[in-house]
Amino acid sequence: MLPLLCQVVLLSLLGLVLSQSPSGSHLVWPEVVPVAVRSPYFSCWMLTGTQDGAASTQWPQFWSYVNGGDAILGWAGLVRVDNATYQWLGLGFTPANLTDIKLTPTRTIFEMQAGPVNLTITYMMPIEPSDWVQQSLPFSYVSLEVASTDGLPHDVEAYADISGEWLSGNRSSEIQWTTVVGNDIVYHEVSLASPVPFQEIDHQANDGVMYHAISQGPNVTWQTGAGAVCRGQFNSTGNLTNGMDMDFRPLDGDFPVFAFAVSLGSIKSTAVPVVWSLGYVRNPAIQYLTPSGDTQLRSPFFLTQYSSVVDAMTTFVTNYPTASQRASEFDQSLTQAATNISSQYAGILSLAPRIAFGGLDITVSDGTDGQLNASDVKTFMKDMGNSRRVNPVEVLYQAFPMYLYLNASFARSLLSPLLEYQDSASYRNPYAAMDLGFNYSAVAGDNLTHNQGIEQTGNMLIMTLAHARISGDGSLISEHYGLLKAWADYLINNTLTPTINQQSADHEAIANSTNLSVKGIIAIGAMAELSRAVGDADSLKLYSRQASAFIKTWQSLALSSDQQHLLLDYGDSDATWSLAYNLYADRLLGLNLVDPSTYQKQTAFYQSVATSHEFGPPLDSNHTGVTNAAWLLFASATASNETLAETLTTAVWEHVFHLANGGILPISYNTAQGQILSGSASPGNGAMFAPLALGIHNTTISVPAQLLGTNSSTSVGTHESGTISKRVNVGAIIGGAIGGIYALGLLATALLIWQRKSRQSWHLVGVPFKHGTSLLRSLLHPPQSLSEPQSDSKGTIAEISAPPLDPLDPQEPPSRSSLAGRNPESVHFASSEPTASSSRSPSNDSHGSRTSGSGLDSSTYVRELRDEVENLRRVMQELQIDRLAPPPEYVLAAQDSVA
Ligand SMILES: *[C@@H]1O[C@H](CO)[C@@H](O)[C@H](O)[C@H]1NC(C)=O
Ligand SMILES: *[C@@H]1O[C@H](CO)[C@@H](O)[C@H](O)[C@H]1NC(C)=O
Ligand SMILES: *[C@@H]1O[C@H](CO)[C@@H](O)[C@H](O)[C@H]1NC(C)=O
Ligand SMILES: *[C@@H]1O[C@H](CO)[C@@H](O)[C@H](O)[C@H]1NC(C)=O
Ligand SMILES: *[C@@H]1O[C@H](CO)[C@@H](O)[C@H](O)[C@H]1NC(C)=O
Ligand SMILES: *[C@@H]1O[C@H](CO)[C@@H](O)[C@H](O)[C@H]1NC(C)=O
Ligand SMILES: *[C@@H]1O[C@H](CO)[C@@H](O)[C@H](O)[C@H]1NC(C)=O
Ligand SMILES: *[C@@H]1O[C@H](CO)[C@@H](O)[C@H](O)[C@H]1NC(C)=O
Repeated sequence: MLPLLCQVVLLSLLGLVLSQSPSGSHLVWPEVVPVAVRSPYFSCWMLTGTQDGAASTQWPQFWSYVNGGDAILGWAGLVRVDNATYQWLGLGFTPANLTDIKLTPTRTIFEMQAGPVNLTITYMMPIEPSDWVQQSLPFSYVSLEVASTDGLPHDVEAYADISGEWLSGNRSSEIQWTTVVGNDIVYHEVSLASPVPFQEIDHQANDGVMYHAISQGPNVTWQTGAGAVCRGQFNSTGNLTNGMDMDFRPLDGDFPVFAFAVSLGSIKSTAVPVVWSLGYVRNPAIQYLTPSGDTQLRSPFFLTQYSSVVDAMTTFVTNYPTASQRASEFDQSLTQAATNISSQYAGILSLAPRIAFGGLDITVSDGTDGQLNASDVKTFMKDMGNSRRVNPVEVLYQAFPMYLYLNASFARSLLSPLLEYQDSASYRNPYAAMDLGFNYSAVAGDNLTHNQGIEQTGNMLIMTLAHARISGDGSLISEHYGLLKAWADYLINNTLTPTINQQSADHEAIANSTNLSVKGIIAIGAMAELSRAVGDADSLKLYSRQASAFIKTWQSLALSSDQQHLLLDYGDSDATWSLAYNLYADRLLGLNLVDPSTYQKQTAFYQSVATSHEFGPPLDSNHTGVTNAAWLLFASATASNETLAETLTTAVWEHVFHLANGGILPISYNTAQGQILSGSASPGNGAMFAPLALGIHNTTISVPAQLLGTNSSTSVGTHESGTISKRVNVGAIIGGAIGGIYALGLLATALLIWQRKSRQSWHLVGVPFKHGTSLLRSLLHPPQSLSEPQSDSKGTIAEISAPPLDPLDPQEPPSRSSLAGRNPESVHFASSEPTASSSRSPSNDSHGSRTSGSGLDSSTYVRELRDEVENLRRVMQELQIDRLAPPPEYVLAAQDSVA
């Protein structure tokens, strides 16, 4: 019987590997890839269709295509080779043959074949976490390279245009345009005749200006006019007329387009790529209601550096070579760090960062002198894929690992508007708000009562400490210390035994939820560290005692009767459980409140559940049809062994890369087919950095003395000196060794910034990215014995004496609406009176019936089986590692070699 079972396991494992790399010529790429994604309203995607080369026979789409309706963004690309025209983007001409799509964190690369030449089309979306000017520039590149495949030179001309569809979801909006021919660049500027600020029509903004630009050169031609006219001109002559269509009209009136062509002559290959730049600029970007009740119009950050958008664009266009170099370095560092975990993980990180940065607007206000105030940076996040909520706290919490890893200062600029608002007279709830309003890009605040008190308050305290301990910047703590303490006090009163009115981020309301409770407890522990940072010894004692006492009680209530896994809620049947993703915060903050054995038990338990779910274990035993990519990565980061970590990331990879999942890395999806439930293109995809963020070392939090009102250079050491934790001590040792280097780096960065900006400097106390990654290898996999006494995976497995949960829980998956209480934007905020708490009532998520554990008789045979699986996985892993020497970029096709 045993051999038979092993065979079954072997076959299913092989199936898993094979299904990652479909045989033959079929390549694997995600259903949709980013082509110009820089901000919530500049978010253009290409559906790759069936994996047969359909990507060059469709129009790109605004992210909202997921919701149905016309979301086409007119953008055409043509190449003429020996007088024959081929299409590399859009529709209407002979399509080039798509041969491959490659992804890196900043690029989407289409490899194509057009007659006697190969084309490489690179869509580059810079990610520059330590340069907010660059990061806030809502511009994107597309480049074309040509290589002859027959060894002969060919006459080549290249062409690209955009339409007015980028400007409004209302396709009959009147637009106007102009073309400016300069010495360095040529650009088209297109705008709405009647822009409406801060509004959306079909998810698109109605107040932006669109730019299409190219470097000036002898063989560059341009034209504006109907799509058929401009493309026809290029098709027949290989160049454009340098002529402007003066008939301003609705954007769908013969679809005026804004085109550039470049003639390359007779070539075997391009010496330098042909590069077009696209931009979509909204200024003001954000309408912000200040805590004192003033309406502030906030500008994109890059304008602190440039006197005009045109200046910024000119630099962007002409600096392509250096931008490309920086992007390569970013790609290299991140891909290397990710590949150290797994190639699937690298695949996920080749998409997640562009999405997570694409949901943000980094803004500044006007100073009193009429100049932009570069020290008043506020970053706003749109709840993309769900609603128009501003800085949705639970999504911010999901995304946080990415900001921490890439530049913790981002975290500050996202948290500060939330803290400021709730520290004002406009906000009186004893718990934290869910967001800053419901109508992005207008930020009006949100003081409605709601049912996620523990959830959101816990999120805020955890994020505030996470930011401070990684950036070293304690200013937010000192500025809002009273508010933070009040929140911790709220948690002390509410978190140990959450009532049924307390909802989780997943809109579940369960009394005594173990996962929700532990978030609140960890947040109280975080408060102790915040108190330590400001030198408030009494509060430090109070909160750390409270957290320790609570966690003991929690531990005694939360486990199953055999003490082998966490229940869904205290005292419930042993068949209940949940993805205890909130444990991640304990690891992230290095608090070590939760007993290390809990992680081991959960690791073994998840593994038992995961084997029956290709796309990852479900949210919990009540909702077996639903799971969540962000929480899976959080859970994966807390795994006590690499096997589970890999199982979970592979499950998410399957969902992202493999399927018609019906969305853009949707955060919430069904477990059966991996299909979207909600959260398409959500910035919550920053959660994919959860494993990497655990490798960042913390620093001493320094609190500005003048803000404390006391003579406090008392940056009381961070907890690493206080709490006894083997794991953190390792961090401390390594941290000590590189601490000096780090400090030097910070100093150098600070000097550089100070030199570059004559203005008052803002806080840019980020984690130097490269530094983070160089540390990674050592920190990512701390000696296993530190976090798990039994480092041998067999030892861990031998612990499983509990019957695994019945994997085929027959319970109905919940409907999308029952889980997505607040999600559909139309439903909720239409009639939001200030006191309309009805709009925020808990979902009537009945506790429902539960299956009782119909466990197998475990014991030796299960153990042996698991050992087999373990060995097999190890072999597979080694195989993969052998064949996939860390690639400089994540090449999807490389998967083929495994099969
Ligand atoms: C392309 O067309 C031009 C003029 O129409 C002609 O002179 C040239 O020979 C053609 N090139 C090829 C490769 O057919
Ligand atoms: C695409 O490939 C097919 C089959 O090899 C070939 O017949 C066709 O000409 C190619 N199309 C282009 C645009 O090169
Ligand atoms: C053209 O692309 C094909 C893959 O489709 C590749 O095998 C070939 O080497 C490429 N040729 C050149 C000259 O780049
Ligand atoms: C492009 O031009 C060729 C002739 O040079 C013509 O046959 C073809 O129909 C044109 N294509 C389009 C889409 O206009
Ligand atoms: C376009 O190409 C034609 C020949 O194909 C040439 O006569 C004309 O001068 C070119 N126009 C521009 C603006 O380059
Ligand atoms: C411009 O076009 C001419 C003729 O088509 C060609 O010889 C030359 O190399 C081109 N110059 C550039 C910079 O592409
Ligand atoms: C909620 O905010 C509004 C302004 O946005 C304010 O008028 C109202 O007083 C606030 N309510 C509470 C309870 O603070
Ligand atoms: C906590 O509960 C105590 C006792 O019920 C009450 O006095 C106190 O105001 C509560 N504090 C908060 C912040 O809710």
